[in-house]
Amino acid sequence: MDPMLTIAVRAARAAGDLIARYSGRVDTLKITPKGRNDFVSEVDKQAEREIIGILQKAYPTHGFLGEEGGRQSGSQGKSDFMWVIDPLDGTTNFLHGFPQFSVSIALMHKGKIECGVVYDPTSQELFTAKRGAGATLDNRRIRVSKQKGYNGALLGTGFPFKDQRHVDAYLGMFRDFMKDTAGIRRPGSAALDLAYVACGRYDGFWEIGLKPWDLAAGVLLVQEAGGIVSDLEGSDQFMLSGNVVAATSKLHPLMMDTIRPHLTPALRNQPQPSPAANPPESSADASGA
Ligand code: IPD
Ligand code: CA
Ligand code: CA
Repeated sequence: MDPMLTIAVRAARAAGDLIARYSGRVDTLKITPKGRNDFVSEVDKQAEREIIGILQKAYPTHGFLGEEGGRQSGSQGKSDFMWVIDPLDGTTNFLHGFPQFSVSIALMHKGKIECGVVYDPTSQELFTAKRGAGATLDNRRIRVSKQKGYNGALLGTGFPFKDQRHVDAYLGMFRDFMKDTAGIRRPGSAALDLAYVACGRYDGFWEIGLKPWDLAAGVLLVQEAGGIVSDLEGSDQFMLSGNVVAATSKLHPLMMDTIRPHLTPALRNQPQPSPAANPPESSADASGA
């Protein structure tokens, strides 16, 4: 295995073991609200420290972007290498004893995702990817499913529960996907959702408003497993917007067609025009309707 991936796996397993040790005594944990519907526990923070400790020992000059600790430079200041870490993806599940959460670690070099690890401490499933070298689940190569159309397709998603601005647009997409596919799942760990696209458990996944640490490792898993990842408009800006669509190559364009009519100016990442500058007839054009 690639040496950087080996270290990332070691860090993910160490954090996963720590999370698993706490899973039986969640009621004793100190839980702090971070924002609307957003919580952090001591476990998230400890797991992040554990991961950074292991990575830093091997790569002292690398930088870090952790969900809990934010940005951290390496020993020589700014570095081209940055580890992007979600120490516990699915905190709400973890705090409710709902066994769907994961550790997500990715390495970026000059803005490109080079390797990624998603580890599920409950099932002990380990997903890894290295740019150009494929993706694996427990050391076996994985590929996205062979799903070509909506008939029989299973999609994964996440609800935009933190930022309510996009709820109506999201529900429009949800309604259309529900009508056309075999089913939609919302387990609650975006990193695992992407890993499930990579290994063919889902045929596609979409979510609005994710963060780089939710996405980085899972995105590389999907790409290295032969899937397509884009933002809601089909571009590669998903790490910036946090809006993502990941699917098999045949399903991805169909998902884009379903999503397009529901895009609002805010979801298009365009500045919202003032009503005066946007007479009714031109707004209909701009909506693409
Ligand atoms: C959350 C999970 C969830 C997604 C949320 C994320 P967290 O991460 O990935 O599936 O819907 O948007 O914030 O907060 O548990 O690390
Ligand atoms: Ca997360
Ligand atoms: Ca988290």
